[in-house]
Amino acid sequence: MVIEKICCLGAGYVGGPTCSVIALKCPDIRVTVCDMSVERINQWNSEKLPIYEPGLDEVVQKCRGKNLFFSTDIAKGIREADLIFISVNTPTKLYGNGKGRAADLKYIEGAARMIAELATSNKIVVEKSTVPVKAAEIIMKILRANTKPGVEYQILSNPEFLAEGSAIVDLLEADRVLIGGEDTAEGHEAVKKLCWVYEHWIDTKNILTTNTWSSELSKLAANAFLAQRISSINSLSAVCEATGADVSEVARAVGKDSRIGPKFLEASIGFGGSCFQKDILNLIYLCECLNLPEVAAYWQQVIDLNDYQKTRFTRKVIESLFNTITDKKIAILGFSFKKNTGDTRESPAIHVAKTLLEEGAKLHIYDPKVEHDQIFFELTHPSITSEPELFRKNIQIHNTAYSAIAGTHAIVLCTEWDEFKELDYKKIYDVMMKPAYIFDGRKILDHDSLVNMGFHVQTIGKRLSRTNSLRAQGSQAQP
Ligand code: UDX
Ligand code: ADP
Repeated sequence: MVIEKICCLGAGYVGGPTCSVIALKCPDIRVTVCDMSVERINQWNSEKLPIYEPGLDEVVQKCRGKNLFFSTDIAKGIREADLIFISVNTPTKLYGNGKGRAADLKYIEGAARMIAELATSNKIVVEKSTVPVKAAEIIMKILRANTKPGVEYQILSNPEFLAEGSAIVDLLEADRVLIGGEDTAEGHEAVKKLCWVYEHWIDTKNILTTNTWSSELSKLAANAFLAQRISSINSLSAVCEATGADVSEVARAVGKDSRIGPKFLEASIGFGGSCFQKDILNLIYLCECLNLPEVAAYWQQVIDLNDYQKTRFTRKVIESLFNTITDKKIAILGFSFKKNTGDTRESPAIHVAKTLLEEGAKLHIYDPKVEHDQIFFELTHPSITSEPELFRKNIQIHNTAYSAIAGTHAIVLCTEWDEFKELDYKKIYDVMMKPAYIFDGRKILDHDSLVNMGFHVQTIGKRLSRTNSLRAQGSQAQP
């Protein structure tokens, strides 16, 4: 059997781009992406897609209506499909056992129950969402406990490694595709069928097959390793600021070692995104359940360091502004958790903005892709403040960086959008209150020339002295 019809439950950041690329590369397969949210599906069927991802519009435009469909008719999607991806959300539990650490599997379970209720023929069910180890077992138990006569299920784990902002390239040129299945003849057969889908564009040597549990754990491990690198370099950024070393130079020297490699060594205000923190918390919870407290404590430190980095940066902003920011106007440049995405989940900008608002600052926020409502939603959420109206009153959202910056005491750069490097900082200096401060949380600006213009500049992992910067610029001016 070849796979003729694929259904994907969940039209989010994972399901949408992944299935769009499958449709692009497999014109012989009909792909239907289903979601319970009518609004989300309407957006996928409109000119303005619900997520911003470079290259996604083109892929969707090429395939939509041909072999790619977005629909709320979940029952039809499930019934017709040979293979079903589960790409629903798996947030961290907010209450009960494992609160704050374990993944909330209610959406996964809901999806499995829908399949069990609606399927009338054999299905390969593939868990695509990042899930805790052994989640496939839950899906398997639900499906097999509710099997109708003549309907058989194979459950596979096929974690997605795409990063937001580069999802399409990551999907088209995946370093590897990982498929885990049951160690039975039927399991192997199902793995082969999913391999066949990816073989439309991925070299077979990059398609790794393994057992289900190894596949699930590999996904958590990959994210934990990546996050650990960021916490490692961020920990050193504090040492650099205290000693006069430059963290970019340290990263360059360390990354030249081919055993270490240069990627993911960019010190920052801390990592964000929907995956890193959630997956490490999952790993920690797993270790605790397995009575491995030392291993749990080891990974907890990656998160603690990330929290420390966000706090350390924000404290620096407040202290530099004479420890008094009540009623001071501060511009926040960038609100998404990284450039090239409109996603704000766990964005470090939220922590920075919340702390500044608690100190009474008036924030002027600009992000090229995040919707205004989304910024208000994040900063007035009950987990952020008990005084949403007060916060709302002190937030103004702008459509350009220039309008956000005019009349402010300080610029706090939270996301590394390219356009922030291109701004006319001479013009900006003139329209800011003096002394004018820039806090570059992403190390992307030309600090020496900013100092030369008269700005007070602070960044991550580098101590900027006015004298050194003027010397670097070859200026004759006295500091
Ligand atoms: C991550 C993984 O990279 C991806 O493989 C997985 O499938 C999902 O989780 P994502 O969260 O989309 O992807 O983005 P990523 O590029 O990994 O960045 C995560 C965070 O780390 C961002 O806030 C980013 O700014 C930060 N980061 C990244 C750094 O601070 N320094 C770096 O060197 C790299
Ligand atoms: P991710 O980043 O993992 O893709 P998102 O939150 O962006 O997560 O998307 C998950 C999507 O899954 C949401 O749009 C949600 O409405 C959808 N969803 C949740 N449960 C189901 C279900 N049982 N069937 C279909 N869609 C679902």
